[in-house]
This record gives sequence, C-alpha cells and structure tokens, in this order.
Amino acid sequence: MATITFANTKGGAGKTTVALILAAELAERGHRVAILDTDPQQWITRWNGLADTPAKFTVVSDITEDTIERDVKALSKTMDYVIIDVAGGISPLLAKAIGLSDRVMIPVQGCAMDAVGGAQVLTILQELAIQCEIRIPHSVVLTRINSIITTRALTAVKALLAEKQVHVLETALIERAAYRDMFVTGGTLHTMEPERVSNLDKARENARQFAEEIMSLVPIKVAKPKTAKPKVAKATKVEPASKRKAA
Ligand SMILES: Nc1ncnc2c1ncn2[C@@H]1O[C@H](COP(=O)(O)OP(=O)(O)OP(=O)(O)O)[C@@H](O)[C@H]1O
Ligand SMILES: [Mg+2]
Repeated sequence: MATITFANTKGGAGKTTVALILAAELAERGHRVAILDTDPQQWITRWNGLADTPAKFTVVSDITEDTIERDVKALSKTMDYVIIDVAGGISPLLAKAIGLSDRVMIPVQGCAMDAVGGAQVLTILQELAIQCEIRIPHSVVLTRINSIITTRALTAVKALLAEKQVHVLETALIERAAYRDMFVTGGTLHTMEPERVSNLDKARENARQFAEEIMSLVPIKVAKPKTAKPKVAKATKVEPASKRKAA
C-alpha cells in the first residue's frame, strides 16, 4: 500500500481536483483505491453523492486529526493506494497526513501565492526531517497550466523551485473544462461523454500521463508475508583440523 497526500496551505491550489483525477486513474487500472476526504467542505464526498459517479473506489469521509492514523492503518490492509485530500491552511491534521505519507504531492498553480502555500508545506516537511528524522519524498505538480502559452508567473515559479531543488513532476495538469465539470456532473474522465465536454480526449491523455508518472514514483509496497521460522539445523560437531586424519 502507498499513501499519497495532496497538500498546499493556499486554498484553491488544485489539491482536490488532482487528488480525484489520480484516484480515478488508479482505480481505472484495477488498483484498490481509497480517497480520504479530510476537508470540512467535503468536496470529494459531495462528488461521490452525484448521480453519475461510479463507485470504482472508496471515499472515506469525516476524517479528523484523531482518527486519521487509525483510518490509514486499517485501509493499508485492503487498499493499494490511499490518497489524502487536505483542506487549505496549516493544521495539525495536515502535519499528521504528511507524516503518514509515502509521498507528498504539492499542487502549485503558476502564480506567486500558490508558491508561498507550497513553500509552507515544504517547511513542514523540513521540520519533520530535522526534528523527527522523518524524511518524506515530495514533488510539486504544476496545475491549471495554459496549454498554449507559458506565463511569466509560471516561469518564475519554475525558477524558484529549481533554485530550491524541489522535484517537479514532468507532467503538468493542464487547465481543462473536464477537470472542473467532474465536480458538477459527477463521474470521471472515463464516464464523461466526449460530445458534452470540450477536449475530453486531451484531458484523458493528460490524466493518464500524470497517473503513470506518479505510479512510477510511488510504487505499491507489498506487505511481507509472514514466513515460518527457518528450522535451525542441528549443529554437527566438527573435529579440529589437528585431530582430523589426513585423507
Ligand atoms: N487543471 C484544472 N483545470 C481546470 N480547473 C481546475 C484545474 N485545477 C483546479 N481547477 C479549479 O480550480 C478551483 C480550485 O481547485 P480545487 O478545489 O481542486 O483546489 P483546492 O486546493 O482543493 O482548494 P481548497 O484549498 O479550497 O481545498 C476549482 O474550481 C477547480 O474546478
Ligand atoms: Mg480542496
């Protein structure tokens, strides 16, 4: 099982959208996926209640700071991936979710405010490393990228991340209507109708590349099967060389 948290203290950075896209892609590939909706706004839970939403993965709602550790532990027995969607802002729940993760993904839009929110998550990761010696791999995922032009803000954000030596996913999430519409109509990129959503094929391809890059970065850890204790062979007495007869 692998646990991935999407975090950026800046509201509206794209955490919930990217978390849902990833969960749907992983489930589409036959993985057992649970998404933990820790946001009091319950966007994923609301999406799950919409008519067109297929139940290909498990949505766990009402997660709190007190329950998250137990919930992740319980899910680790039955799931391949546990994805945690955290609300904006700094909270004890955010710190706990980060601490439970195999990788933290930091969605950042090509604007300065998002980069500031992302930097706060990086600070939490640094504190965990210094104070608790817990080093959690992390990557920035650039979101809502314009498919045609590169803005000055995006170039500045990329330069800042390179300077701080932060890993950035090669696949950026493009600004697509399909990613917005999912939360209105329900369903996933795979159940939406191409004639109703513009550039759905491009959104699907973008999501596929994104999920494949994450799968290669965060492989599923297989729990070691309990093996029977190896039988200890009875020690055989070996004569010291001096006492052994020459052959
Ligand atoms: N790649 C994208 N293409 C189009 N719209 C997007 C994309 N990513 C995010 N959005 C839109 O941006 C808004 C904010 O996204 P989202 O809710 O995912 O951010 P968030 O970081 O989870 O916000 P919060 O901090 O409030 O939880 C939403 O309206 C969403 O539909
Ligand atoms: Mg959100």
